[in-house]
Amino acid sequence: MQKFYVTTPIYYVNDTPHIGHSYTTVLADVLTRFHKMIGYDTYFLTGTDEHGQKVQRAAEKRGVSPQTHVDEYSEHFKSLWEKMNISYNQFIRTTDPAHIRFVMEKLQELWDKGEIYPEEYEGWYSVGEERFFTEDELVDGKDPISGRPVEWLKEKNYFFRMGKYQERLIDYIRENPDWIVPDFRKNEVLGFLKQPLHDLCISRPKSRLSWGITLPFDNEYVTYVWFDALINYVSAVADKKYTDGSPIWPATYHLIGKDILTTHCVYWPTMLMALGIELPEHILAHGWWLVGDGSKMSKSGGTGVSPMEYMDKYGVDVFRYFLAREMVVGQDSVFSHEAFVRRVNGDLANDLGNVLNRVVHLSAVNFDGKLPAPKTPFSALETELRNAAMIVQKCVMEWIPQVKLSQVIEEVIGLARHVNRYLEQKAPWKLAKDESKKDELAATLYTAAEAVRLALSFLTPVMPQKTAEGLAMLGTSFDGIEDLKWGKLKGGELLQKGAPLFPRIEEEKTEAEKQPKPAQNKPLSAEDIPGMLELRAAKITRVKDHPDAQSLYVLELDAGDAGKRTVCSGLKNSYAASELQDKMVILFANLKAAALRGVMSHGMLLAGENDGKAVLIAPPENAEAGDRALFKGIPAGESRELKIKDFDKIQLKVKQGVVYTGEVPLEINGGPVTCEAPDNSLVH
Ligand code: MSP
Repeated sequence: MQKFYVTTPIYYVNDTPHIGHSYTTVLADVLTRFHKMIGYDTYFLTGTDEHGQKVQRAAEKRGVSPQTHVDEYSEHFKSLWEKMNISYNQFIRTTDPAHIRFVMEKLQELWDKGEIYPEEYEGWYSVGEERFFTEDELVDGKDPISGRPVEWLKEKNYFFRMGKYQERLIDYIRENPDWIVPDFRKNEVLGFLKQPLHDLCISRPKSRLSWGITLPFDNEYVTYVWFDALINYVSAVADKKYTDGSPIWPATYHLIGKDILTTHCVYWPTMLMALGIELPEHILAHGWWLVGDGSKMSKSGGTGVSPMEYMDKYGVDVFRYFLAREMVVGQDSVFSHEAFVRRVNGDLANDLGNVLNRVVHLSAVNFDGKLPAPKTPFSALETELRNAAMIVQKCVMEWIPQVKLSQVIEEVIGLARHVNRYLEQKAPWKLAKDESKKDELAATLYTAAEAVRLALSFLTPVMPQKTAEGLAMLGTSFDGIEDLKWGKLKGGELLQKGAPLFPRIEEEKTEAEKQPKPAQNKPLSAEDIPGMLELRAAKITRVKDHPDAQSLYVLELDAGDAGKRTVCSGLKNSYAASELQDKMVILFANLKAAALRGVMSHGMLLAGENDGKAVLIAPPENAEAGDRALFKGIPAGESRELKIKDFDKIQLKVKQGVVYTGEVPLEINGGPVTCEAPDNSLVH
């Protein structure tokens, strides 16, 4: 029997669960159920990461002991998973005594082997991120991740000899090209490994942090939270077996968000190498769920969309469906109300739900409340539908082990659409009026019902409850892999007519929405654009290669009050990274955010052209990051998001080194925005 051991990250208990946590966990659950469905023996591990500074601080803030805090917060996760119908095998907590023993044992083992050594260490320490940074990792002298101040710290610590595994790890990644999925994340890790790999500080003095696992060889220290956390994947299953008695480790898939790529693809494998433990088979990094404006979902409240709200309002299964279908594994996705309604009303109500209702209703009315048995030999249309269903079955079997989840779901919904088309072609409501066509009517309804049964069966991992209800309407159920073949329905099944399985979400219009559309939606003319372009001076604070596109840089920008931004820019052929670092540029800040090969770009840099190369336009000397550029005499217009096609309604040109639209120069604080490109060069 084939095996599937899947893990989610163990979640910090400094925060209540949000959509990000829900997604990874639903993904793991759906994949586990799919694997089970196609005959794998499965094991699904999730849990909570309960040590470390973040947790200690969250407890302090609430005025409770860390233990009380973690007990309560891990319950929040557990009860959410129960509500979301998450069928994990095990929920590990890093405060479990068995885990603590295991971690101490492994630390001792590494110490005995000389893989851990003590050293005096000095460096920039970020309290927020609980780690040291090197001088060149700092951005503007601050923590490059949280942007918070850092402090210079000197102390003895214990180090894991991570650096010595660098070459072995690089070789391993190269020899196992599908170890890190998707491919561009693998390249990101290989990129990271081009720099010398340092040893890893794995301790914290108890004077600074007491909430952790004590180092077995030094009572004054606790272990670094990541060291403790990563080991959960092995400690959890140390004494567990598959049904045939074989060990559960190694994991088939570690599912992680892209934020924790390095810890999982660098720290973790080197730790395993040092311990002589087999590496996991795959590490899959998924993208971020973004809110409507393209920014990362807030972790704690604020703009965070609460998963609870959507679940309570529209039901757990529909929510699971949305998460599983909407995100192409690896890419970022936007969580918006509109996208949610589109999926529910389109895929579920119009396609799948509608076809089920039609079949149940027509059969029940014409065949005494039962499903008819097929009477006539099948025609080409029936064969076509049956073949289509079998192709979807093949996709499920082949693609699920490759984690192509949204693609599988798309195929299944495609099958439901095919049945709808088939019904349009056969028009059973007309056949029903002609007594001589009764057999053809029976064959039609039977064929449609069997195809819908399969569509529902394929989706049982995604929507366990709803699909069971839908199958019950057809007088059947899903009982195992044999049911994925054509022909389970025999005719004579007792049908259950009832309310639609997937009710449409009918939007209630607010009073404001009933009013004529506000100016927000009026089409823009060329005259509107110059005032509405939000062009701002910004400083490039960081230049990285795009992980998956040769011509692009991924730039971090500081746009003052307008915030920090990530922008993908096709400047590779025009500028070396070092020329861009710290450069002042002009950012088109209210351009609709877009994903460029998997990286969200929040705006665009403007440049003229010289000899086929881009020449960035530049703010005047006195401009500061965030200052707005305006066309002389044109006040700032309505503030709203623009599209490229809006920008293209006007032309920006260079004249004697200054950027103009028509005869009007672009300025910041009275000084011109300039560009070292020849006259008449277009700025875009
Ligand atoms: N405790 C560590 C993980 C240790 S694993 C050995 C941690 N925990 S966390 O609570 O911050 O959760 C991180 C995970 O939550 C991410 O890797 C990702 O799986 C998920 N997400 C958090 N926010 C997210 C989004 N906005 N979108 C999608 N998933 C994200 O890091």
